[in-house]
Amino acid sequence: MSGWRSVGDPSLPASLGSGRLLWCGIGGSVLPADALIQALAEAPFRRRWHPLTSPEPNDLRLEPEDQLVFASKSGRTLELWSWIGRLRAQEGWGRWHRAPIAITQDDQNPLAQLARAEGWTLLPIPVDVGGRYSAFTPIGTLPLHWAGQNAGRFLAGAREALTLAEQGRGLWGERVWDMVGTLTKGYLSGVDQWVMMPYATRLETVGGWWVQLIAESLGKQAKDGSRRGFTPIRAVGPQDQHAQLQRWLDGPRNVGVVMVTVGSGEGVEPSDPPVQCPFPGLGRRGGAEVVRAQAEGTREALEDAGVPVIHWHLEALDEASLGAFLMAWQLVVGLCGMALEVDPFDQPAVESGKRRTLLKLGIS
Ligand code: PA5
Repeated sequence: MSGWRSVGDPSLPASLGSGRLLWCGIGGSVLPADALIQALAEAPFRRRWHPLTSPEPNDLRLEPEDQLVFASKSGRTLELWSWIGRLRAQEGWGRWHRAPIAITQDDQNPLAQLARAEGWTLLPIPVDVGGRYSAFTPIGTLPLHWAGQNAGRFLAGAREALTLAEQGRGLWGERVWDMVGTLTKGYLSGVDQWVMMPYATRLETVGGWWVQLIAESLGKQAKDGSRRGFTPIRAVGPQDQHAQLQRWLDGPRNVGVVMVTVGSGEGVEPSDPPVQCPFPGLGRRGGAEVVRAQAEGTREALEDAGVPVIHWHLEALDEASLGAFLMAWQLVVGLCGMALEVDPFDQPAVESGKRRTLLKLGIS
């Protein structure tokens, strides 16, 4: 599958309205979208963003201003069809100002057939792009566009990281190859758990995307039957240095940490701590400065304890830097798959779980 390095074009529907974005999809058909919305969209868009992933009942009612999106590479996923059926049963179905959008392979799959039959817009996912490698298709660009962000800059950031990695130079070229080297060398010495620890709460759902990419791509049996892979651990710096850090410092020595920091940390905010504050001088320190000190302090503590740490700093949290970040990880994972001699593009064990779920429901 060559599509793990492909970057699409930003042609998208002109208007998506100003209502909610209801996004039905699961796994790689929602995680890039959720990551990008939470990281980059302004608060009013984040409030109107509704990923419909788990089939669990909820009290969501369709409104005419909603923009519905049905996203599924295969067009055959149970969770998606569960949502289509339940939304279709609502009174609001069909009373929309703008017809739904289907994001799927442009072939004869059931979702593509439904979209054509209903006259919905169909935004294609290229056949060679695997589900969890689809951030650079409309799965990533449509939500950015809806949220008033620049999808072109996101794709340009990805292309730049790809070019630099292929040439083995520049910031992203070095990051990709250093990461591949550290992960694979560490693996040979027993470091098979890796933490993604952004010191930026807005990157929390990027961690969700990353967990899927690592776990589903690299946790495999090799041809000789041996079991390989990394356990990805999702964290957020300011929270998890008060939670998981204890285990990484004092627990088994099989873990490494990827620390991500963002921005210059120079924003000035007024602060007026009362006399009871146990930290004299804290009033002169803004929140960004506190977070930067937390990241530096935690990094030193980890390194002193012998835990491998890789630190990526993003000057800005914007479309281009996120495009480069996501592409860099796609490249790292594809290359690690080759080093571990597993296929990073399939997911045979997940498929068996899906089959058994259908058997349980008696609808296989
Ligand atoms: O990476 C993958 O292929 C999977 O995790 C899929 O993203 C997930 O199963 C959803 O599949 P689909 O997009 O076909 O609905």
